[in-house]
Amino acid sequence: MSYKEYLDVLKQNSHFREIKDFTHKDEKYIEINGKKLINLSSNNYLGFADNNAVTQEFLETTGAKYCFGSASARLLTGTLPVYKELELLLAKLFNKDSALIFNSGYHANVGINSSIAGKGDVIFSDKLNHASIIDGMRLSEGKFFRYPHNNMEALEKLLIRERKNFNNAIIVSESVFSMDGDIADLRKLVELKEKYNCILILDEAHAFGVFGQNGLGVSETLGIIDNVDLIVGTFGKAIGSMGAFAVGNKTLIDYLTNKARSFIFSTALPPINIAFTKWIIENKLPKTYEKRMNMIKLGKKITAQLTPLPNPLPQEAREAEINVVQQGYVRNTPQGAREGSHIIPIIIGSNKETVETCEILYQNGFFTLPIRPPTVPEGTSRLRLSLTTDITEQEIQNAISLAKQTK
Ligand SMILES: Cc1ncc(COP(=O)(O)O)c(C=O)c1O
Repeated sequence: MSYKEYLDVLKQNSHFREIKDFTHKDEKYIEINGKKLINLSSNNYLGFADNNAVTQEFLETTGAKYCFGSASARLLTGTLPVYKELELLLAKLFNKDSALIFNSGYHANVGINSSIAGKGDVIFSDKLNHASIIDGMRLSEGKFFRYPHNNMEALEKLLIRERKNFNNAIIVSESVFSMDGDIADLRKLVELKEKYNCILILDEAHAFGVFGQNGLGVSETLGIIDNVDLIVGTFGKAIGSMGAFAVGNKTLIDYLTNKARSFIFSTALPPINIAFTKWIIENKLPKTYEKRMNMIKLGKKITAQLTPLPNPLPQEAREAEINVVQQGYVRNTPQGAREGSHIIPIIIGSNKETVETCEILYQNGFFTLPIRPPTVPEGTSRLRLSLTTDITEQEIQNAISLAKQTK
């Protein structure tokens, strides 16, 4: 198939993606062609990414101390004390030996999952884990299995069948799932990792800065940080910056420093960016507790109101074991009702109807993006509504009512 034909097929199937031109982004709003919309597609959960007052305050505090280029990878000459300071801060917050900064969550997951399992090792990964985890596993020399989403029984069966055939075994899961907003059964994951002698990696990309007393993630909420071997978090979402980290014991972090190619072979993030991340975590994040808790509470409330409607599932969705329900539809987990978060998926099903729903929301002042395969399983295209601390209950309820009317 030629490139042009490939693109034509995408267009026919409402799969074609384009980068939109935003003229302005400000707190909860986004402006496209002069039209001001409430942004329901943002990972800027605490509003730090585009808050002029915050940026101004940071620049006044730091002046011209930090440059905009690191000019090299960390293991060459691309490091300065501020990188180590941020790593020490993270290690201290999580009470772990060490931390390692990556250039993004994508870099972190690709680097970690490609290097953590060598020949004779195995990774067990939730079927809905992010593309960066999947890409990392594909580059790995080890073998990997994908268990049905959040299905701990299926994972245990897999562990019973396969664990004995491998040396090192790793279980990897997101905590808050990026496209479904549901939360992994972390206590069970810890139990299984201990029972079957595995390393547990937890990607807290959407939970770092949102969940927990200190914003460390769902593992902090549940008091299980000590039981997770490697916690991954991103700075590009709630922190409003860029980059990512992994925290764990010294051996694992030293191993990644020596083996994770996305860390070794890429120019480090700009020092000013690292300084901004550190400044937000130290100075701003501690003041967000109440706002974060209200946002999560609202997300859970809205999610609980979405009525599951049984619907014949498309094959791919059935394989992913998402109980797709019709619109307004949240799926239950295999264990029963799901626990919601600040991410609210409105599963529509077809690409075409999902795109049309976004258009109606757009006409009514809301910005949402259609989430389509391959980001989500075929037949489960959706709106992924994400809350920020500035979005009100009325606004999100209005958006959901509009989405429901379109079918
Ligand atoms: C669960 C998860 N992990 C990792 C990433 C990648 O993070 P980043 O955007 O910093 O590359 C994402 C991005 O959306 C994500 O959802």
